[in-house]
Amino acid sequence: MRSFRSILITGASSGLGAALAEAYAGPGIFLHLGARRGDLLAELAEKCRRKGAEAGIAAIDVTDADAMAAWIKGADAGRPLDLVIANAGISGGTSGGGESADQARAIFRVNVDGVLNTVLPVLPLMAARRNGQIGIMASLAGHRGFPGAPANCGSKAAVKVWGEGLRGEMAASGVGVSVIMPGFVTTPMTAVNDFPMPFLMPADRAAGIIRKGLAANRARIAFPWPMAILSWLIGALSPAITDRMLRAAPKKR
Ligand SMILES: NC(=O)c1ccc[n+]([C@@H]2O[C@H](COP(=O)([O-])OP(=O)(O)OC[C@H]3O[C@@H](n4cnc5c(N)ncnc54)[C@H](OP(=O)(O)O)[C@@H]3O)[C@@H](O)[C@H]2O)c1
Repeated sequence: MRSFRSILITGASSGLGAALAEAYAGPGIFLHLGARRGDLLAELAEKCRRKGAEAGIAAIDVTDADAMAAWIKGADAGRPLDLVIANAGISGGTSGGGESADQARAIFRVNVDGVLNTVLPVLPLMAARRNGQIGIMASLAGHRGFPGAPANCGSKAAVKVWGEGLRGEMAASGVGVSVIMPGFVTTPMTAVNDFPMPFLMPADRAAGIIRKGLAANRARIAFPWPMAILSWLIGALSPAITDRMLRAAPKKR
């Protein structure tokens, strides 16, 4: 099992990112927490310090490649990073209307470019030390394009597949790469959904599952298992079967 002491998390100001920060917080742990809302990060960092961790915050936009590289290299120079979780993400979609053109572009910028901007600067540093773990936040929505959220699904499919390839590429250098694929988790992102969300899971429980998976350097951390199987199956079946079924599925607001 791998253990982590210097941990960088993007999208830490709410939801899964904040839950992950709290799950890792403890004595001997340094947390580097990034997101755009610095006020929320400051509150979270204080909570983590009360649990015995040290914590630094960066009010930063993951789409700013230069700023991200500077932050990540600076964090690594202070405390060599042994875990980086590229978690920041957005979704769009309006009930019945789907994602607007602007939303679709923004989703790819944050969910794909933002992940690259988080992971690429740290890879050579970890490889040189022959030590480190990367967690890439994809989604079970990356198994198949769902009507109402094509850009969200497409962006998650892109980082899922990129992470799988990267895992093989980095294996010889001792750097682990895990692709994280949650189903529905209770966060501000899902709070707007007005349709039933099967197997909806609290964020702290999801963070616990992700933490265990990263420690084991699991290739794919997909949960909850019934949703993981169902979404994989929907992706594997012929569109001739699934298209009609999915057209009737509820849309994201
Ligand atoms: N909740 C679910 O059911 C679910 C399921 C599968 C996958 N996921 C994925 O899990 C990740 C976290 O989502 P969540 O559910 O926890 O939603 P959330 O509560 O809305 O959190 C999203 C986080 O991303 C940050 N973020 C968004 N745009 C950013 C940008 N341009 N630069 C920097 N940070 C940015 C937000 O911080 P600021 O606004 O402060 O920047 C926030 O901290 C996302 O990648 C999401 O796609 C969630």
